[in-house]
Amino acid sequence: MNLPRTRTLRPSLRRRLLLALLVPVGVLLLLDALLTYGVALTYANRVHDRDLSDDALTLATMLGNDKLDGELSPQARFLLEYDPDGHSYFAVSSARHGLLASNGQLSPPAQLPAIGARPILYDAQLAKRALRAATVRIAMRSDPGDSLVVTVAETLRDRHRQAREILLLASVTQTLLIACVLSLVWFGVGRGLRVLDPLTARLAARTNELTPIDGPDVPLEIRPLTRTIDALFGRLRSMLALHDRFIADAAHQLRTPLAGLSLHVERAMADPQPETMADTLAHIRRLVQRVARTSAQLLALTRAQAPPPEAGERSLLDLGQFIPGAVAERVHEAIRAGIDLGYEGSGRPLFVLGDAASLQDLLDNLIDNAVRYAGRGSTVTVRLSARADGGANLSVEDNGPGVPPDALPRLSERFFRAANHNEEGSGLGLAIVQRIAERHHAEVTYRLVEPHGLCVEVRFPASSETTVGPA
Ligand SMILES: Nc1ncnc2c1ncn2[C@@H]1O[C@H](COP(=O)(O)OP(=O)(O)O)[C@@H](O)[C@H]1O
Ligand SMILES: [Mg+2]
Repeated sequence: MNLPRTRTLRPSLRRRLLLALLVPVGVLLLLDALLTYGVALTYANRVHDRDLSDDALTLATMLGNDKLDGELSPQARFLLEYDPDGHSYFAVSSARHGLLASNGQLSPPAQLPAIGARPILYDAQLAKRALRAATVRIAMRSDPGDSLVVTVAETLRDRHRQAREILLLASVTQTLLIACVLSLVWFGVGRGLRVLDPLTARLAARTNELTPIDGPDVPLEIRPLTRTIDALFGRLRSMLALHDRFIADAAHQLRTPLAGLSLHVERAMADPQPETMADTLAHIRRLVQRVARTSAQLLALTRAQAPPPEAGERSLLDLGQFIPGAVAERVHEAIRAGIDLGYEGSGRPLFVLGDAASLQDLLDNLIDNAVRYAGRGSTVTVRLSARADGGANLSVEDNGPGVPPDALPRLSERFFRAANHNEEGSGLGLAIVQRIAERHHAEVTYRLVEPHGLCVEVRFPASSETTVGPA
């Protein structure tokens, strides 16, 4: 059955860079457009203002030469009223005759200019339309006692149109420029990443080498990455070394009983005496049990070292219920071995975040050790108590011979076995306990108890901060 493939978009430096640039560049473009429009409008205003005052002056000079008898000549009227677009306005008045002509109620400037002075420019309004006006006052040639005030005005339409044209032109060129810059970024990233080629080539030439990859050809910006990879390689190297040692140790541990087995079998085959056969078979059974036990412990240690379970597979486990249950399962076996196995706990729930199967392994190893090493007639007590910080303490204590004090710090080492007993074993049980405890962020401590015996304590952190950690 073909499942539909979901395509996930890989992160891309180019896309990220372009997206990061696009928004600020867009905002800048907008600000720039506003600025350009403002500058263009100022420029257009200046040019139009100059034209307007020139018009006012020219008109006034022309009318001042006419002989006015309270009325304008037809030629002057024609000139004034010539306005093909309907955007120009005028008003002419004389001191003696009042308003002579106008094509709209133009408001006068706040203060009339002096006779013969430069035209005054001001903002005016006509029927809610914003206008720009220029007013000039000149003396009449034909009547020196009279003066003529000429005002011309225009709407702001042309000024805004010119500013818009300039803005459009500028926007087109700026958009092209930005498109060029963004494509340079696009290709630049590709070119820039070529500095990684030597590193890639060096890595491609490796087969299974785990030496550091950092070198003089690694770009500055990539160094945090290569350092992290080198740290990872370092951890892998020590893990591989650990594995190599482990395989060698395991082979050694299995070789001894297997060699013994082969020896007993050969001896029995060479001299098949019925009277010694039972003895030989007992030896063989003991060795087979030892091999089986060592391989089971090796498997358990491998399990304890495997990556921790996914977050979803972990659950809150009530040790207050789980531990007495697990102890009860071992009681019959303990009675057969002549051991008084007991449990002490408050009976209250005590939660840790963890995995029941591995905690069962942990407890089994501790009870197994206590029962075997303490010996017939001893007492083994499993205790569970809550700590003030919300964590839990689990301990397994016996009143057996304990271990020599100098062996205490080495008990969690793989294959370590104290020399004060003749019990069979692999030396892996407490290494398994240690790994399982680490996965639960718990701490294992060993102490000798008075007058004799060993107590192993596992301190679990409070469940809110308990997670199953990396292997
Ligand atoms: N309860 C105990 N009393 C005395 N010695 C112990 C006890 N538990 C562990 N030991 C010592 O620690 C060693 C390591 O234990 P372990 O890692 O479980 O391996 P194994 O039990 O296979 O020898 C044992 O060989 C034994 O010498
Ligand atoms: Mg053991």
